[in-house]
Amino acid sequence: MKTLIRNGRIITAVDDYRADILIEGETISVIGAKLEMEADRVIDASGKLVIPGGIDPHTHMELPFGGTQASDDFRTGTIAAAHGGTTSIIDFAVQYKGQALIEAVDNWHQKAEGKTAIDYGFHLITTELEDNQIEEMHTLMDEGITSFKLFMAYPGVFLVDDATIFRAMSAAGERGGLICMHAENGIVINEIIKRALAQGRTAPKYHALTRPTRAEAEGVHRAIAIAEMAEAPVYIVHLSCADALEQVREARDRGLPAFAETCPQYLFLSYDNYEEPGFEGAKYVMTPPLREKWNQAELWKGLKMDDLQVISTDHCPFCMKEQKELGKDDFSKIPNGAPGVEHRVPLIYNGGVVENRISLNRFVELTSTAAAKMFGLFPKKGTIAVGSDADIVIFDAERQQTISAATHHMNVDYSAYEGKTITGVVETVLSRGRVVIENGEYVGQAGDGKFLKRGTCVAM
Ligand code: URP
Ligand code: ZN
Ligand code: ZN
Repeated sequence: MKTLIRNGRIITAVDDYRADILIEGETISVIGAKLEMEADRVIDASGKLVIPGGIDPHTHMELPFGGTQASDDFRTGTIAAAHGGTTSIIDFAVQYKGQALIEAVDNWHQKAEGKTAIDYGFHLITTELEDNQIEEMHTLMDEGITSFKLFMAYPGVFLVDDATIFRAMSAAGERGGLICMHAENGIVINEIIKRALAQGRTAPKYHALTRPTRAEAEGVHRAIAIAEMAEAPVYIVHLSCADALEQVREARDRGLPAFAETCPQYLFLSYDNYEEPGFEGAKYVMTPPLREKWNQAELWKGLKMDDLQVISTDHCPFCMKEQKELGKDDFSKIPNGAPGVEHRVPLIYNGGVVENRISLNRFVELTSTAAAKMFGLFPKKGTIAVGSDADIVIFDAERQQTISAATHHMNVDYSAYEGKTITGVVETVLSRGRVVIENGEYVGQAGDGKFLKRGTCVAM
């Protein structure tokens, strides 16, 4: 099967030019001006941007959490991702206490296999790592699971102690692997939560008010210090505020391999959302929480100056009905997480490029290329080049859309951006050469997506 994309404006992390792209099978084979080759299918991209498929390295499909589970499975979640121009996700498999690392990953393979619309990889949330499990960690790395998430939060569930963090960083670092850190001092936070509940403070906004930015900054500082002692890199996930960013900036200025991502919710939403009437604030109960609005400008500055390298979503949807409602009388029982996988690329285009905060090239870098390099997918993914997978988005940079739960494709009964009008619409999406979104409609088949056996980080 040959596909020719004609007349588009190709944008990568470094290029901006007009050319045609010939795709043979799953791969880009020729890029050039006015290609004369025959093709089975010709797509006219006149007047459109042609960008690499987005990579979202932080999703939680079907994550069991707080007595329920994330409402998108690998089918609905990846179809929604494709609608929004994302062609690869990296989801978090979970090792429960007492479980072998390999068993945990097998469990996630079973959830995803045959279901996905786009390609997918896994990180492993590691909740136990004794010396005798390090061999297993290395086996997983050989199988393409080259990054591991550790938690400093959620005592009794996911939290690991500093010894485990040090062991994991040393063991992963030895082989070029990467530790992703949920950096928040969960022990202190739990004490603050107990105090709030004892004072009768049960509304959703107390989720934010019991998780101070200092708790995140302390976690980031400690994660980086432990990584430095382990002589390993570290990647801070879902960084939400200026306090925490300052820790990353200071480390990077010292030349340390400290990396971080932020997410659209921290760039476009704020603490004010928790003050919405009634129980509406529960829509935004995620961890870390939304912060005071002034933090947004600091995060954009961090993205511009490369103190933040990646924008992911931390997509972890729970419906208001029956799921968020579990915490109607106690904010600490509201399942933590929010939907986002569908709108990351257009939201960042609108808030970044249209609103003059970042360049077009940086937009592509933040939503695709940097994640490919960070998580061992580059140059197969994350760029438009001869030999790369034909993961391509044809993006209408002029058209507008209004985000709404009534029209989105995520399996969740609300949108955190309800009614927001943005410029930029994903028109056509190719995943390894197959058209999966055509004029905004899903035309692929469940199971089109393939497991991504990832290499190691090349971002350093
Ligand atoms: O609230 C969140 N972020 N839920 C997903 C789990 C995590 O910590 O990433
Ligand atoms: Zn987390
Ligand atoms: Zn997460």
